[in-house]
Amino acid sequence: MKKSFTFSIIALVLVLFSCGEKKTSSQASSTEPFIESGAIWLDTDGNQINAHGGGIMYHEGTYYWYGEYKGDSTYWNPKVPNWECYRTEAGGVSCYSSTDLTNWKFEGVVLKPDLENEDSELHPSNVLERPKVIYNDQTKKFVLWLHVDSHNYGKAAAGVAVCDTPNGNFEYLGSMRPNEAMSRDMTLFKDDDGKAYHVYSSEENRTLYISLLTDDYLKPTGTFTRNFVDKSREAPAVFKKDGKYYILSSGCTAWDPNQAEYAVADSMLGEWTVMGDPCSGKDAHITFYGQSTHVLPIAGKDGAYMAMFDKWNKTDLIDSRYIWLPIEFKADNKIDIAWQDKWQVSQVF
Ligand code: GAL
Repeated sequence: MKKSFTFSIIALVLVLFSCGEKKTSSQASSTEPFIESGAIWLDTDGNQINAHGGGIMYHEGTYYWYGEYKGDSTYWNPKVPNWECYRTEAGGVSCYSSTDLTNWKFEGVVLKPDLENEDSELHPSNVLERPKVIYNDQTKKFVLWLHVDSHNYGKAAAGVAVCDTPNGNFEYLGSMRPNEAMSRDMTLFKDDDGKAYHVYSSEENRTLYISLLTDDYLKPTGTFTRNFVDKSREAPAVFKKDGKYYILSSGCTAWDPNQAEYAVADSMLGEWTVMGDPCSGKDAHITFYGQSTHVLPIAGKDGAYMAMFDKWNKTDLIDSRYIWLPIEFKADNKIDIAWQDKWQVSQVF
């Protein structure tokens, strides 16, 4: 009895001591929510966030997160025999806003599906994936590009929409096969000089195209490069740091996870050097069960970047989760994306 009493006192002192330690090292963050990858993330209304394969745009003090607004029933598409085509109704593109990257307000579905017209590309029976938005300083328009496809992924096209505000109703302008080539997984990248690029998996997803857009960001200029030829890279995410360009991407295994890879170049249309797998820690070799979608430069924090991944749940796609992790930069253009169960924005950036 006495022994256990003494033990309890020691344990209590240790607990108090460790609490004290914690408080001093993260005083400002005691009420700040954690970013807990793979957990259910709720918006400020208490609903599960539905913004898959998306990206975040920072504009005038607010982060806008755009993503696929997935329907709530997942089914296997028997019309696609050669791969495991699980899919769901395409519900358009959702938008959430936040000033701190943890409290997200649902702004609505900003690119609406066309529920009436079965021939519309925006009909829920088709595929709408990987939406990305950038702001055009000249036209003052928010420009959205996304992967638009038929129910069996045979169309392989890119759609474009515009809006005067980040959270308004985007007007759909139609789709194309940019540079007369197939376009599936995609991202946009806006450079410091205002030029923008459409980066997309082409040639049956075997080769990644980087295509310079017109000044209004609505069309390809016709200047493009073919990269990682026959290497089947998907899910591209592009960012720039200290004059170097980085592409993070996945392999090509449908909804199943695979190994991530990154490459570095001196210019968007230049030669890319493959650097290997940037991930480390638990399940790093399969991207922590995730697939890249975007890399966000943290506003006002030089050198701070966050990598965003989707953790797909192929048999219940709406319940796919999110993995967000900070990027650490090392010597010789190397990066490390280390697994963390949970972390706080103010403590890392
Ligand atoms: C993935 C792709 C996703 C989606 C999925 C369909 O490879 O990255 O965006 O198209 O295939 O199975």
